Amino acid sequence: MLLLANAEAWPGFSHTVERLRAGDEGLPAMVSGISRVEAEPKVRSVGYGGWPNMLGVMECDGAVMNGTTRTVGSVGAVPDTIPVCALAYEVMQRLPHVTLTGAGARRFADEIGFTRDDPLFPDSKRVWWERLEKEMSPEQRANFPDIPLAPLSTAITDPERVRDTTVFLCQDTKKGIHAATSTSGWAWKYPGRLGDSPIPGAGFYADSRYGAAACTHTGEMTMRAGTARAIVMALRLGYSLSEAIEFAIEDLQDLSGGFLGGVVIHAMDAEGSHDVVNFRCDGDIRYWFWQDGMDAPELRAARTA
Ligand code: GLY
Repeated sequence: MLLLANAEAWPGFSHTVERLRAGDEGLPAMVSGISRVEAEPKVRSVGYGGWPNMLGVMECDGAVMNGTTRTVGSVGAVPDTIPVCALAYEVMQRLPHVTLTGAGARRFADEIGFTRDDPLFPDSKRVWWERLEKEMSPEQRANFPDIPLAPLSTAITDPERVRDTTVFLCQDTKKGIHAATSTSGWAWKYPGRLGDSPIPGAGFYADSRYGAAACTHTGEMTMRAGTARAIVMALRLGYSLSEAIEFAIEDLQDLSGGFLGGVVIHAMDAEGSHDVVNFRCDGDIRYWFWQDGMDAPELRAARTA
């Protein structure tokens, strides 16, 4: 067994380890851990502690992928909902679809008994308005929100409010390799924006035969490069985990135009190797790791590309 997640996973990582140790399957164990991350306001990129869109509305994204069946559930730009990873898991189990977004995702949540949450944390609301106010002219302020948002959306790409996420990857007791994600997405994003966290192949991909990958930070890049799927495909073609990640990074490096920033790649293969690589993100990137034989999870440093 093996569990890998980014540093923001701290509220739920040990809980997931305990569930895996108890013999739970990987997806329910990870979804339960991510629900704790989503509920923790100190995690400033996911669920209740995350950041709203340009209108001050929380729209969260989340996903799950079963690497044995390659079934996927994902939800994007969901309002009024904190546990979006659990909602994505319900999409996977109850619907013939892969992805629901916006009002449709919330309608489904109502139908299956999810409570309506108020996910806008008071500090996020304060910072959202202070930052927005600085960008607006007196006329824009007077007419907000009935103004064009695109110029503001382009102006606010605040590096302190990173496009972070929580990502969990595991290999469970049945050798199933699975992935789960959750995020509030890019702070001050244009309403309706989806990041890579609900997009299979971009922000996550899992195949129990070969391995899995999941990304944090700039979804606008991994969606263009198909990063997570590219890594698992390279494993399938017989490349090592480090070679597979290197190919994906070459593709990220080769992007031009559009919005370019940093990406952190988390990946593992079916033989139990793992790697976490920082491509152009500022600061000290760390991740959580646990595997059979370890007494407790460890917070480790990512490698820099
Ligand atoms: N990687 C998270 C996002 O771009 O929303």
